[in-house]
Amino acid sequence: MFKRCISTKKSLVFASLIFCIITVLILELKVLNFPKNSDLNFNRLHGQINLNESVKNREYSTKYLHSRNLIVIYNRIPKTGSTSFINVAYDLCKKNSFNVIHLNITKNSHFLSLADQARFVYNITSWNEKKPALYHGHVGFINFQVFGATVPIFINILRKPLDRLVSYYYFLRYGDNYRPNLIRKKHGNKVTFDECVKEKRPDCHPDNMWLQIPFLCGQSAFCWIPGNEWALQEAKKNLVEKYLLVGITEDITSFISVLETVLPEFFKGASEHFASSLKKHLRKTNKKIEPSEETVTEIKSSPIWQMENELYEFAAQQFHFIKNQMKMNENGTLLDKGIHFKFEKIYPK
Ligand SMILES: *[C@@H]1O[C@H](CO)[C@@H](O)[C@H](O)[C@H]1NC(C)=O
Ligand SMILES: *[C@@H]1O[C@H](CO)[C@@H](O)[C@H](O)[C@H]1NC(C)=O
Ligand SMILES: *[C@@H]1O[C@H](CO)[C@@H](O)[C@H](O)[C@H]1NC(C)=O
Ligand SMILES: *[C@@H]1O[C@H](CO)[C@@H](O)[C@H](O)[C@H]1NC(C)=O
Repeated sequence: MFKRCISTKKSLVFASLIFCIITVLILELKVLNFPKNSDLNFNRLHGQINLNESVKNREYSTKYLHSRNLIVIYNRIPKTGSTSFINVAYDLCKKNSFNVIHLNITKNSHFLSLADQARFVYNITSWNEKKPALYHGHVGFINFQVFGATVPIFINILRKPLDRLVSYYYFLRYGDNYRPNLIRKKHGNKVTFDECVKEKRPDCHPDNMWLQIPFLCGQSAFCWIPGNEWALQEAKKNLVEKYLLVGITEDITSFISVLETVLPEFFKGASEHFASSLKKHLRKTNKKIEPSEETVTEIKSSPIWQMENELYEFAAQQFHFIKNQMKMNENGTLLDKGIHFKFEKIYPK
């Protein structure tokens, strides 16, 4: 019996080996089949340049790019310039043939129940007709990995935390030029931000700034506790490890330029479009009074501002690092520097 057991094991190992070889062969055939090695654009994307100068500046092949079937999630944070940015995507989606889909969450909640996360993850990863797709919505980072799903590409934009709070404060009172006729939550309330801080009203409490950290931190309980140190570290970690790119409101133009170089199937032509339609896309709060120096000092003394600002500075440093890898043309447009690596000694021939 013992002997038989061993022989079963042996044949099992043998069968697995055969299976592996066949799988590898099939995969190999698939890879070789599409995209074709002769597709120079495919090569370009992978830096596999065959040193043909005339090819260097060629466009990416649409066929290949769309075969990537990417999903991008922009879990946008309120009052960070997200509308200006997403409108670029809405303008380009037809021309670049991708879908833009808004994720509307009931009661403006920024997190989902575990079951809703599962449904969301399952839905968007299996909704093949809509790929490639860019999803956007005011929701905290969702960890696709824990659902065993293919992980999409995450992008985001952060803003200086006090600027964001002041912008939000006046936005609730006076609305903006985007939907001028919409009556906002605090319409008619004439208390300035300075007065609000002086009188220690809840609307300008530093806890309201605890938003960019939890958005990047994610769906766990600890992310949403104002002042939680773990949440800050998790947000930083996610920013570097789970996000393709996090831009800053203060430099959305460069954010779009970088995206154009790394996600051309979505953002091809975006820089030019954004520059030429800047007026149309810039969403501005109707009335905004800059806070006094005293108010600024008061806010900056709060630990919440300090933590949120730490994340912002972290994001800005990382973003500038990426931006500085690009070059600027005479018109001030950021461009890809081109290929700085090539493959050699590919063997066997
Ligand atoms: C370089 O690319 C151009 C344009 O695609 C093509 O016409 C030419 O034959 C290529 N030259 C070589 C040496 O591959
Ligand atoms: C989200 O859905 C609700 C209910 O259907 C609707 O009232 C609201 O306008 C939607 N929000 C946006 C931004 O479209
Ligand atoms: C995803 O959800 C949408 C809208 O709720 C639905 O129409 C679509 O069929 C769903 N897709 C999949 C693959 O479940
Ligand atoms: C710079 O802008 C001018 C005018 O819009 C345009 O003609 C030119 O091609 C641009 N240069 C580059 C390198 O994009």
